[in-house]
Amino acid sequence: MPYTAKTFTITPGADLSPVQLELHLGLYAGYVKNLNLLNHQLTLLKSDRSTNTLAISELTRRLGFEFNGMRLHELYFEQLSGNGEISGPLATALATQWGSIETWKEDFEQTCLFRGIGWGILSIDVESGQFYNSWVSDHEIGHLAGLPIILAVDMWEHAYLIDYKPSQKTDYLKAIFARLNWSTLDSRLAN
Ligand SMILES: [Fe+2]
Repeated sequence: MPYTAKTFTITPGADLSPVQLELHLGLYAGYVKNLNLLNHQLTLLKSDRSTNTLAISELTRRLGFEFNGMRLHELYFEQLSGNGEISGPLATALATQWGSIETWKEDFEQTCLFRGIGWGILSIDVESGQFYNSWVSDHEIGHLAGLPIILAVDMWEHAYLIDYKPSQKTDYLKAIFARLNWSTLDSRLAN
């Protein structure tokens, strides 16, 4: 079954302008389209594996970029429907592991501010119960195997460049945190 681009409840504002959001949602739709195209092409190519070995290999390697490009953007947009109020079981658990929610937030923000394009990710190791703040380059490089993602912040320049200069990444992060819906994050943790 082909994937369909989802819709999200985000009200544009001075912090995330209509133009910025429209551009970004358009890019997201592009990942959905390309993933469908990729899956379709792979199905066709696999009807003759011996002839298409190299093409199958190259396109399969591309799945991580297109699929994660789709899924990470869905996690990103879905979590921006709140008012930034930090509360709930996740906040409590993060404060327990890091000593305080402020210490966790500082570490997460510093992770997001790494140079290069990619994502700041909060995930949990279900086996140990330990949370991780980590960095994913592009959409697919550096994921911690099997760890469910609880928070994903897009740090590609296309996510903020219309509203913020590259030197204002901290202001962009502030805007994202001010829109975070911690109930959404809690439901990811519960799942
Ligand atoms: Fe993006």
